[in-house]
Amino acid sequence: MTPNPRRNPARSATRPQGQITRGKTAPNRLRRVDAFLAAYDPALITRGDGDYQRALYVDLGYGAEPTTTLESAARLRRLNRKLGVLGVEIEPDRVARAQPFVDERTDFRLGGFNLPLKTDRSGHAETVRLVRAFNVLRQYDVEEVRPAYDQIMAQVLPGGLLMDGTSDPYGRVWTANMVRRTALGWELEALVLGLNTRGGLDPDAFQTRLPKSFIHRMVPGDPAFRFMEDWKAAARDTRSAETWGPRAWFVAAGKAMKTKGYDVAREDLWLKRGWLVWRDCGLEI
Ligand SMILES: C[S@@+](CC[C@H](N)C(=O)[O-])C[C@H]1O[C@@H](n2cnc3c(N)ncnc32)[C@H](O)[C@@H]1O
Repeated sequence: MTPNPRRNPARSATRPQGQITRGKTAPNRLRRVDAFLAAYDPALITRGDGDYQRALYVDLGYGAEPTTTLESAARLRRLNRKLGVLGVEIEPDRVARAQPFVDERTDFRLGGFNLPLKTDRSGHAETVRLVRAFNVLRQYDVEEVRPAYDQIMAQVLPGGLLMDGTSDPYGRVWTANMVRRTALGWELEALVLGLNTRGGLDPDAFQTRLPKSFIHRMVPGDPAFRFMEDWKAAARDTRSAETWGPRAWFVAAGKAMKTKGYDVAREDLWLKRGWLVWRDCGLEI
């Protein structure tokens, strides 16, 4: 009798976990996100100690074309030219389309939240330092976010990161959860609002692009809602800075968040680059 794959634990462990969603992507859409990743924790990209020797950067859910993965690989390899990059897609045709771009340091595989890692001939298993999942969980139900994080983070090395984010079609406005693998499991270490100031600043635009974990929590009493309300108020209060351009306004609003008590990381440098990083945000997912 042929075993039912649904009942076969070995088969279901390797079957990609998740669902096929729309594959919309665009060249350079995640350029700012790549720049942020390189600046946020450069030591994570470069470290090569212990299990980090074979640790990959995984772009989970790269979409209809592997362009954003290849762009990201080129940018992060400015920090670590040997960086192994793995693009993962749950849709087989999208994986097939990426095969011409496979090389010694770059692979594209069929997979899901249970990342399709391999072991080489000498028995060395691949490991993972960083996972980016952009515009992926947005298309799931909110109840699916935590289990997805659990699955992904189980394969990330201690100290490693998951960046779960959402952007507009052109990457002008984006937000992300920075999730760190700790000794005890994982924790949300920061919520980031990212802006390409060339497109101007619309303080309301971030709310509709929040990560899935928070987009449905815009209700009074929720700390994520309070943060967004405080951000919009900070933007209103500092509007006069717009005279010097959207960047100056974004910086002024970010500094006002700091005076309201938010732990805004490296505000002098990162706000100027269009990144408001709310560290130790204490938000529950
Ligand atoms: C909107 S595209 C995002 C493409 C790219 N990351 C970007 O932001 O431009 C989302 C992609 O995620 C893929 N996807 C959804 N769930 C997935 C999962 N569990 N594992 C791997 N890929 C997944 C979909 O098949 C789709 O191609």
